[in-house]
Amino acid sequence: MSRFKIGLAMVSLTIVALAAPAQAQSLQVKVWASACANCHGTNGKAQGAAATLAGQSQADLVAKMQAYKTGQRPATLMHQIAKGYTDEQIEQIAAYLAAQK
Ligand code: HEC
Repeated sequence: MSRFKIGLAMVSLTIVALAAPAQAQSLQVKVWASACANCHGTNGKAQGAAATLAGQSQADLVAKMQAYKTGQRPATLMHQIAKGYTDEQIEQIAAYLAAQK
């Protein structure tokens, strides 16, 4: 193999290595967010009484989830649910829901 071809192969390998985690991560966030869908609707668009999460700002969603987690915000269920996620996961789920139209 020529030096050029080896160089090309390494560049494309690097691209694959960089692209794969980003894709896996967004899929992972979708899976986390799907756990909210039972009550808050697919992609956070509520059909019934539950609050619509889609399109709320990331900052608001994070603040509400943190307030549930610490017990500052009264809840019947959400304080339990919020405790099941790390701060990092909450940031990412909130970003995902905020991006839904
Ligand atoms: C089992 C049903 C259920 C699931 C699953 C659920 N929620 Fe909730 N959520 C509720 C209920 C009920 C409330 C109203 C507060 C309460 O009584 O706990 C609420 C309220 C909220 C609120 C406040 C809404 C507002 O704008 O005032 C946010 C934010 C929220 N949920 C986020 C989430 C996220 C993010 C997930 C997924 C990680 C999730 N919820 C999963 C039932 C659920």
